[in-house]
Formats: sequence, C-alpha cells, structure tokens
Amino acid sequence: MNAPNALTRPSVPDHVRPESVVDFDLYRDHRFEEEDGLHEGLWRLIQETGQGIFWTPHNGGHWFITDHELLFQAAKQPELFSSTAMTLPPMPADQEPRLIPLGLDPPVHGAYRLPLMRAFSPDIIKAMEKDIRAFAAELIEGIRPNGRAEFVEAIAEPMPIMIFMKLMGMPLDRLREFREWVYDMLSPDNDRRASSYVHVHAMMEPLIREREKEPRDDLISRLVHSEIDGRPVTYDEVQAYCLLLFAAGLDTVANSLSFGVCLLSRDQELQARLRANPELIPEAVEEFLRRYGIVFTPRTAAKDMHFGGVDICKGERVLLMLPAGNLDPTAFPDPARFDLDREDKAHMTFNSGPHRCIGSHLARLELRVFYEEWLKRMPRVQIDPDRRVTYRTGLTLALDKVPIVWDAAA
Ligand code: HEM
Repeated sequence: MNAPNALTRPSVPDHVRPESVVDFDLYRDHRFEEEDGLHEGLWRLIQETGQGIFWTPHNGGHWFITDHELLFQAAKQPELFSSTAMTLPPMPADQEPRLIPLGLDPPVHGAYRLPLMRAFSPDIIKAMEKDIRAFAAELIEGIRPNGRAEFVEAIAEPMPIMIFMKLMGMPLDRLREFREWVYDMLSPDNDRRASSYVHVHAMMEPLIREREKEPRDDLISRLVHSEIDGRPVTYDEVQAYCLLLFAAGLDTVANSLSFGVCLLSRDQELQARLRANPELIPEAVEEFLRRYGIVFTPRTAAKDMHFGGVDICKGERVLLMLPAGNLDPTAFPDPARFDLDREDKAHMTFNSGPHRCIGSHLARLELRVFYEEWLKRMPRVQIDPDRRVTYRTGLTLALDKVPIVWDAAA
C-alpha cells in the first residue's frame, strides 16, 4: 500500500460545510465489515445519512452521491461532471489510464463510442448465445458431482473471462493471469494499478499487431479496422479500448453472478419458483441487477458549481454511487427487498447518460443463460453452513467467496 501523500491524505476543504461531512471509506468502510453483506453496509450508510450528496475526507477527500435523482442528473451532465480523470484516490494526471471511450467527454466521446457500439451490435451479441450456454454448461457440469464448491472461483470468475476472451479472439490459457490483473486494476494501491496497465498493454500488443496484418472474425479485428471521424483508428487508441473492455467487462459480470447465486442459495423459495418458472428468469436478472448494483464510478467537477444543495469546486472528485440510487425509496418502494414481482425495475446499475454501459446486452445475456443452465442442471443449492461468505469493496462491490453445497446424488 502506498503511504498517504498529498493526493490521498484525509482532508476537508474550507467550502465544505460540517453537516455535509460523512466518515465513509469506500475501500475499507467499517459498515461494510460490520454488516453481513456489502449492500447491507451501503443500506446502513443510507439509513444514517439519508439520500443525498456528502463529502468524505478519505481517499484524498471526495464527494459521493447516493440520491437517485442527483445521480441521474450528474450522469446526464458531463459538462459539469467530467470523466477525464476517474481514479480514486486520484492518481497524478500523467499516470491516469487512458480509457476509450469512458475517459472522454462529449462531444469527442460520441465518435469514439461508435466503433464499440458497432462491435457490440445486437446481432453480434445474439450470435454468442450458443458459446455462452456451452461455457456455462461445461463449468456447471464440472462441479456438479462434487456436492460442494466455492462459486466465485469455480464459475463466476472464469465464465465471463472465457466469454470475453472468445469475443476478443484471445487464447483461453491465460485465464488466471487475467483475473489477477483485474484485481490490480481495481486496487486502491497506485503501484498495483499502474502495473496492471503495463501488463494488459504488453499482452495486447502482439494480438493487435497480428490483427492489423490479418483480420479475423473477432472484436480486436473489428476495432483495429474501425474509423474515428473518417480516419483509421491508431494503435494507441486500440490499446485504450482494450484496457477499458478488460476493466469493464470481467469483474462486473463475475460480481453480479456471485450476488445472484448467493441470494438464490439463501432463498429456497425464490430458487424453487424460478426453477419451476424459467420464463421468470429475465425478470429475476433485472431485479438482481437492481438490488445488487455493482459500480461506484468517479467523476471530476469541470467547474465550480452549486449542485444538490452543496458547493463543489472545480477539480474535486465526485463518486456516483449507482448501487445506492437503486436503494432510494423515492424510486423503488421497499428498496432493500428483493421483489421479483416489482413493477418498475428500471435500475441505475448500467448508469445513464453518454457513458451508459455498452456491454449491458452482453451482460444480460450472460446472466440469463447462466441462470437457465444453473437452475436446470443443479439440484437445490444452499450456502455451506460451515463456511463464510466474504466480501471485497472499492470501485466495484464484489464477493470474494461464496461457499455452496448440494446433494450430489439428487
Ligand atoms: C453486470 C455487468 C456490468 C455492469 C454492472 C456494468 C456497469 C457499467 C457502468 C455503470 C458503466 C458506466 C460507467 C460510467 O458512467 O462511468 C459502464 C460502462 C461501460 N461498460 Fe459496462 N457493465 C457491465 C458489463 C459490461 C460488459 C460485459 C462489457 C463489455 C465487455 C462492458 C463494457 C462497458 C464499456 C465499454 C463502457 C463504457 C461506455 C462509455 O464510456 O461510453 N460492461 N458499465
């Protein structure tokens, strides 16, 4: 861990009113440790503060938003909340990773988003269903005879990585290494983060060079041969696309799967209902996504402003706590309850505004197909009563271990 420096030292600037200050540390908050579940810790924070915008002195000092409407407004106004510096604690400007298109603001952002939109077209994603089903079936059948497993390691981690590598056109044998780099990328430690960027860069280089010469039917080839505003994309830009895809598409799906299976294993009634009515699985996926949001995403104030009743100064970091917006009672009645029959499940998990998740269709497909195979192939699954579910927090909410058991003879 780096020693605290000017960028990470706890601080409260003069313009922040004392009533706006909340002791909240996104990487190691005591509420997350004391509650049985990260979203339960988040729920406790919301109960203590109410929904709104607050300042925390941790991680260099930053604002954080938990109110549904304010989150929506911030996401929709990139001219106020810029995505050009998104590390938290902030990295020095020359070390900020280049993430295309996430790290760009409109109007430039749109031209860079287009090649990815094309590469993630509904037809291309739909065509992946067969492979996704085969990967899910293979992983599930691999553990079924054992009667027990640690779900994150056995399925939640490898499945999205296998799908992602297939989509990108990468060799599957570097699966484990990949996962370590994703951990590093999401770490609060600047050195670990910086080293993960170097690793990904080095790994992508030969693949990009090969596709430049000989395109194949994969995402890297589509990116390498795409255009931005009528000119060919550059090698560095392709690297920046890949770095973002790597950071955005793996951990998120793994975490969503883990929260879903953890809940299913604790709620036998829900498990039985979905098994008997697989046509409800798409609804369940939406409610899993709402109840268990994943991403806290940082912005930087582009100018001095009055927003949500507080004064924000240019250059200050503002954390959009999207999972908290999903727990706002003004948007979702009884929000802490998982309710399959909830009418409005229009959640913030993929954000809104110009940076709305490009991979949401792929993510939904992965989740739906996985639950279909899981409920069809597995008997009644429970959390292992002798082991603990463990969590990890930061810019994504994550489960480290979900130990599960079932009757292998059933
Ligand atoms: C359950 C799974 C997922 C969740 C919860 C999720 C969440 C998000 C969120 C919240 C954003 C907006 C970030 C911001 O506004 O700062 C985002 C953007 C993005 N996501 Fe996802 N994501 C998921 C899966 C994926 C997958 C599978 C991919 C692709 C392989 C992907 C690719 C992207 C990209 C490229 C962006 C940037 C879009 C832009 O800046 O225009 N995501 N995602």
